[in-house]
Amino acid sequence: MIHDPSLEAFIRGIPKAELHVHIEGALEPELMFTLARRNGIALPWDNVDDLRQAYDFHNLQSFLDIYYRGADVLQHVQDFYDLTFSYFKRAAEDNVRHVELFFDPQTHTRRDVPFETVITGIRGACVDAESRLGISSRMILCFLRHLSPSSALESLRLAVPFRPWICGVGLDSSEAGNPPSKFQSVFDEAREENFRVVAHAGEEGPASYIREALDLLGAQRIDHGVRCFEDEELVERLVREQIPLTVCPLSNVKLRVFPEMAQHNLKRMIDRGLMVTVNSDDPAYFGGYVADNYVAAAQALGLTRAEVVALAKNSFQASFLVHDRKLALIAEVERYAASAA
Ligand code: HPA
Ligand code: ZN
Repeated sequence: MIHDPSLEAFIRGIPKAELHVHIEGALEPELMFTLARRNGIALPWDNVDDLRQAYDFHNLQSFLDIYYRGADVLQHVQDFYDLTFSYFKRAAEDNVRHVELFFDPQTHTRRDVPFETVITGIRGACVDAESRLGISSRMILCFLRHLSPSSALESLRLAVPFRPWICGVGLDSSEAGNPPSKFQSVFDEAREENFRVVAHAGEEGPASYIREALDLLGAQRIDHGVRCFEDEELVERLVREQIPLTVCPLSNVKLRVFPEMAQHNLKRMIDRGLMVTVNSDDPAYFGGYVADNYVAAAQALGLTRAEVVALAKNSFQASFLVHDRKLALIAEVERYAASAA
């Protein structure tokens, strides 16, 4: 492993976008316990250290079980606001300039927390992040793929009154055995409502799920996608069409998609010409925010500054920002790189 402190400082300061972060996954243990006390919710862990000890995951499901349990503390508008604003404050330290965040309404509506409560709190923090921290953002509503298509459809219909606040829809939760095809009709309806479409695919599921996400759901971006190399024709298409992949290196190692960072295929993806970005996924659970993901991957895989710059540019290029703002932010990355040279 190479340790280059100047590369680390370069990474922390480079302007970047984060396109794959589950806001419920930004719930730090300290805030989880604060909200549990505030709302009189009993947690199955005695304290913050006990909870951190439980973060010893062996696959996606072992993480999701704890992640959904932790989300029980989120009850009121203020809780969703506090969670989201705390994420933005931390993101600002990594010079994140734009965020496209996922939220999972079904995780909350199933506990009788109204959709309006969830979205109002998150939206309030997004508005304040723009005015107080200069971070722009979009919200992407994710459907939980372990639940039924009719439950997803219900979530989509609850979203309609809040349409102006929601940029797109996505698909997350337990991937294996829950192919994108299960949700084809829900995504048909979402596209009719002009939602952007993304989907988790090829994290634990096979490359064929990436194809399904593209062909059956109309996904414009693939979340994770690291198993694409199982299908050479698919890789050629992803390169040709420059379909963005939102890769989350620390998540992949924590959930044992790769045994260690040195075996991650991020560098191979860059070398193949894929439109790859680096993101944190669930930063409170996987040991780092977005810059930590760049640093860990860069050190283990020997990424150059030029590759870091390309990843940061990709993060804006792959975003749903309007063309002019994309160009302005990409120009900022270039100026930063030139001034740091
Ligand atoms: N994969 C699938 N679903 C998720 C994840 C993830 O990494 N994080 C939160 N929900
Ligand atoms: Zn994810």
